[in-house]
Amino acid sequence: MNQNMLPTQLVIGCFMALSCAPWWVYSQNGDNRTLVNMTLVRNASVLGAYCLDGSLPAYHLDRGFGAGARNWLLQFEGGGWCNDIPSCLERAKTHRGSTRFMNKLEVFSGILSNNASLNPDFYNWNRVKLRYCDGASFAGDAKFDNGTSLLYFRGQRIWRAIIQDLLPKGLGHARKALLSGCSAGGLASFLHCDNLTNYLPKNTSVKCLSDAGFFLDERDISLNHSMRSFYEGLISLHGVEQNLDKSCTGFRYYPVQCFFPQYALKYIRTPFFVLNSAYDVYQFHHILVPPSADPKGHWYHCKLNPAACNAAQIRILQGSVSSANSFRKIQKRYAFGIEFLLPVFQKRRDVHKFLLCSLSKRVARNMVCC
Ligand SMILES: *[C@@H]1O[C@H](CO)[C@@H](O)[C@H](O)[C@H]1NC(C)=O
Ligand SMILES: *[C@@H]1O[C@H](CO)[C@@H](O)[C@H](O)[C@H]1NC(C)=O
Ligand SMILES: *[C@@H]1O[C@H](CO)[C@@H](O)[C@H](O)[C@H]1NC(C)=O
Ligand SMILES: *[C@@H]1O[C@H](CO)[C@@H](O)[C@H](O)[C@H]1NC(C)=O
Ligand SMILES: *[C@@H]1O[C@H](CO)[C@@H](O)[C@H](O)[C@H]1NC(C)=O
Ligand SMILES: *[C@@H]1O[C@H](CO)[C@@H](O)[C@H](O)[C@H]1NC(C)=O
Ligand SMILES: *[C@@H]1O[C@H](CO)[C@@H](O)[C@H](O)[C@H]1NC(C)=O
Ligand SMILES: *[C@@H]1O[C@H](CO)[C@@H](O)[C@H](O)[C@H]1NC(C)=O
Repeated sequence: MNQNMLPTQLVIGCFMALSCAPWWVYSQNGDNRTLVNMTLVRNASVLGAYCLDGSLPAYHLDRGFGAGARNWLLQFEGGGWCNDIPSCLERAKTHRGSTRFMNKLEVFSGILSNNASLNPDFYNWNRVKLRYCDGASFAGDAKFDNGTSLLYFRGQRIWRAIIQDLLPKGLGHARKALLSGCSAGGLASFLHCDNLTNYLPKNTSVKCLSDAGFFLDERDISLNHSMRSFYEGLISLHGVEQNLDKSCTGFRYYPVQCFFPQYALKYIRTPFFVLNSAYDVYQFHHILVPPSADPKGHWYHCKLNPAACNAAQIRILQGSVSSANSFRKIQKRYAFGIEFLLPVFQKRRDVHKFLLCSLSKRVARNMVCC
């Protein structure tokens, strides 16, 4: 695996809103942020569910109240992936691979905030942040042990351990449940959406949401399948394939493609809401124009500042080449997700605007993540 192709320890920025005013400043305004204590999943060892380094997995739970007391919002933490032994060994020594190095108190802001004026839809729900420490979007099941180095690739078991811990705490009697996540966590939402539905009673209303997790299986500007190669390495190292949706893998020539939402989505039976900017930083910097496809750095300034892109680059970004183009198409095709989500969880408000402007401020503000 070419290490220069995709920096694996990358912390992924969620969006790059070219056409909208910068929205992230809104999250700074006067939010009295709640700090929520970490809960280690003590029983995880029974399931062999460990972080990369062998530490116990964890989540943070802020209890719901009032009308939201029986509703649950689960959010997968994001934060890139590790796709080979060196990058995973490195990651295991950080907060992305071990609960030992994580903050025990986590800020709950955006969609996790308990402030009704900042988070009108979910402020009184039970809100859970699932900490990310496996390096493969909670989907692997393997182990590396050569006598001197030991790594656990147990994302799938971590997911199960956390859900089994939450079920008796009230999740098992939820009225509504929303599974969400950003970036690598947004990908995890696709991979686990139906599994959550299966854990819950038939009369629970379950929906899923992916924020900046729609990573595309597309050629880069040098016509290479960089992202597919990257995921192939990740999937084989972490033992992900066995956990992919069988109804998808059974129908594809390359079963590993079912790790990509564009193929997995049509097999998901739970209502799904996809939120993704056409100018998503990761799509742009690592799928459309990965460093390997731009050895001379022609895209350097354009990546740093979209205003510095030349006309040819803008044309590529806006869809004259396959990636951005097909992203538009895919985005259009799944815009119906909004219709599924809204009637149940929120009033219509100005949500449709974000289709026009990538994201409306209100929605974007609540989606601060990663
Ligand atoms: C934050 O909370 C404190 C005390 O609860 C209050 O005095 C202050 O006005 C709040 N700040 C904002 C911006 O709401
Ligand atoms: C909730 O957020 C609003 C708007 O930022 C702020 O004025 C208010 O003080 C916050 N309330 C609490 C309890 O933090
Ligand atoms: C967080 O939880 C730990 C273990 O349950 C406890 O010892 C600690 O006091 C808690 N911290 C806060 C700030 O609640
Ligand atoms: C085990 O793997 C690590 C990382 O690849 C390597 O540094 C080490 O030499 C290997 N140990 C043995 C006994 O092969
Ligand atoms: C943890 O495991 C013990 C023993 O297997 C069981 O009694 C207990 O209910 C479990 N706790 C949770 C939170 O699942
Ligand atoms: C689902 O049905 C069970 C059994 O009838 C009931 O106890 C529970 O309250 C129902 N849940 C919801 C969300 O309606
Ligand atoms: C969810 O997925 C796990 C792991 O693949 C599986 O063991 C479990 O049976 C699934 N749960 C349900 C309720 O389908
Ligand atoms: C494209 O992929 C091929 C085969 O993996 C590789 O040899 C070539 O160097 C790649 N080109 C670029 C620009 O990354």
